[in-house]
Amino acid sequence: MFGKAGKAAAVAAIAALALTACGRSEGTSGGSSSGSGGFAQNSVIGVALPQKTSENWVLAEGLFNDGLKSAGFTPNVQFANGGVSEQQNQISTMVTKGAKVIIVGAIDGSQLGTQLKQAKDAGATIIAYDRLLKNTDAVDYYVAYDNFKVGQLQGQALLDGMKAKKPSGPYNIELFAGSPDDANAKVFFDGAMSVLQPKIDDGTLKVLSGQKAFDQAVTQGWKAENAQKRMDTLLAASYNSAPLDGVLSPNDTLARAIITSVKSAGKPIPVVTGQDSEVESVKSIMAGEQYSTINKDTRNLVAKAIDMVKKLQAGQKPDINDDKSYNNGVKTVPAYLLPPVIVTKANAKEAYANDPTLSKLTQ
Ligand code: BGC
Repeated sequence: MFGKAGKAAAVAAIAALALTACGRSEGTSGGSSSGSGGFAQNSVIGVALPQKTSENWVLAEGLFNDGLKSAGFTPNVQFANGGVSEQQNQISTMVTKGAKVIIVGAIDGSQLGTQLKQAKDAGATIIAYDRLLKNTDAVDYYVAYDNFKVGQLQGQALLDGMKAKKPSGPYNIELFAGSPDDANAKVFFDGAMSVLQPKIDDGTLKVLSGQKAFDQAVTQGWKAENAQKRMDTLLAASYNSAPLDGVLSPNDTLARAIITSVKSAGKPIPVVTGQDSEVESVKSIMAGEQYSTINKDTRNLVAKAIDMVKKLQAGQKPDINDDKSYNNGVKTVPAYLLPPVIVTKANAKEAYANDPTLSKLTQ
């Protein structure tokens, strides 16, 4: 009755029906995929994380493992503490293991092109997590907190904090940026400078070191000791008699290093910004030392990334709310951006109300 092709089609149709009937959530171990491009529920999902340069990465590890497992996937979550070549090898191994999605928080977003292409050729979907993957078309989606907005909030917090201490300028400030191999670092800095530059131009702000360019402000590897050393040097060179009113710090780890430097020079602590809501920085804010941080709740970011994986598994398109901001040099990467929240002592209690760890520190 059926020709060979007709028979094959009928078998495929029955198989598809069976698949629908048993429901995708029960998993199909054979790695079969739906017509619209989904994949088996228990597939390997790779998560390549960078070095543990801040608490958010450490939190992400546990959240990815738990969240992916409870959604039925097989997580393979790796840190690349040894650096870029370790991360390259980890991504290659994920491809060998048949990962259907690889989520990447890159150490150096420009150094993974070969491995990402290998992953795409093997049929994996690539999600850039927190940090953009640069100069490659082998990246499908980006999920992050709005990095430019983070910088704007930091710049504004610096101005507000200094104004609260001393109603009118001029104010002396110094500028710190993150690691230049992290695609976020320049975006944070540009966001902050979009607020600060007009005030530098009109004389409200003075950078006594003269180091106003991103390249002069960077902190290799996001390392605390590098920021501390640079702050020591800046203080010795420009702030023997002049007061230092504020420091733009791109994250909490560096903020605390800057405060350590200022304290050991015996100077009053200036207004220092931060990011990440790290435990030690929230304590410092409550104690009146660090001025501000940013709340980028890692639970929400990981949940959004896992939500993308679920959509892909079901053969659907992940949610996107920005398709123009993140050009990586080769393509504009469709992104889902979450809103960062500025936190100072004044709103800490409210900001961390649903965070079991941080809410304890704001009582
Ligand atoms: C993240 C920040 C973090 C920094 C250092 C950045 O890419 O967005 O939250 O402070 O890396 O780990």
